[in-house]
Amino acid sequence: MTQRRWKLVLTGASGGIGQALAVALAPRCEWLVLAGRNAAPLAALRERLGPDRAHVVCGDLTQEATLAQLEALARRLGGCNLLVNNAGANDFHAFATQDADALRGLLDTNLLAPMLLTQRLLPQLRAQAPAQVVNVGSLFAYLGYPGFAGYCASKAGLRGFTQALRRELADTGVDVRHFIPRATRTAINRGAVEAMNAEMGVPVDSPEDAARQLLAFLDGGGWERKPGFKEALLVLVNQLLPSVPDRAIRGQLPVIRKHLPE
Ligand SMILES: NC(=O)c1ccc[n+]([C@@H]2O[C@H](COP(=O)([O-])OP(=O)(O)OC[C@H]3O[C@@H](n4cnc5c(N)ncnc54)[C@H](OP(=O)(O)O)[C@@H]3O)[C@@H](O)[C@H]2O)c1
Repeated sequence: MTQRRWKLVLTGASGGIGQALAVALAPRCEWLVLAGRNAAPLAALRERLGPDRAHVVCGDLTQEATLAQLEALARRLGGCNLLVNNAGANDFHAFATQDADALRGLLDTNLLAPMLLTQRLLPQLRAQAPAQVVNVGSLFAYLGYPGFAGYCASKAGLRGFTQALRRELADTGVDVRHFIPRATRTAINRGAVEAMNAEMGVPVDSPEDAARQLLAFLDGGGWERKPGFKEALLVLVNQLLPSVPDRAIRGQLPVIRKHLPE
């Protein structure tokens, strides 16, 4: 059976997981549109993957102009059949003193931007069906965790959006799915989160691990991928017996507070 060639729009392509994803997906792509804010890694990636096939849109996804640019470029290339909403931001901070703009930024970047980009690309995705939208979520969509209130809210929203749209498009040939990487060594965790994870002995994947897992997810079934059995069990316990993680996380508070910017 011949494998489907992807016509890919990938956000967050300048970041850790995004760069690894672009490299892993490129051999399966007819063309790639790589989106990010930081021009240098995007230009290097384009050079590496072949400037004839790889295209770059440099801009902030919270701005309509960037979304419009992505839509127009993908349309000019013939229409996309795979959108990976991978761009994301975090702001590890005590909620009581968290900057309001930082909270707005988290919701705009992690929730509203993928929703609006998906909406803009839907006519192309439907025309190119079978097609996929993969939203890159987090275990924190399920598991509220201290220091991540805004991030958890945004990722829980993204998960809700994914499931609702998936059901809304069930008869269109556009599959809408949710991919959850494990903690991964990238800039999003740099500093306090990295130090806290190290002190707690949290297992951390490489971006290449995350990219391999996403590639396998694209070819496989199921609407959602959790990183592993342990994580899936944690989600289940959190849903059925939330007092268990309540107690465990309360016990972790001294370590969390040691690293948490106030
Ligand atoms: N790393 C982890 O432990 C982990 C775990 C679970 C889920 N995730 C999720 O995985 C995804 C990728 O994260 P990562 O770990 O690769 O982090 P990263 O290295 O910090 O990359 C984040 C990417 O998102 C882009 N981005 C952020 N805000 C943006 C904005 N307003 N407009 C346009 N682009 C924006 C960044 O662009 P620039 O760098 O060009 O500004 C960068 O390309 C995120 O959705 C994250 O929530 C990560």
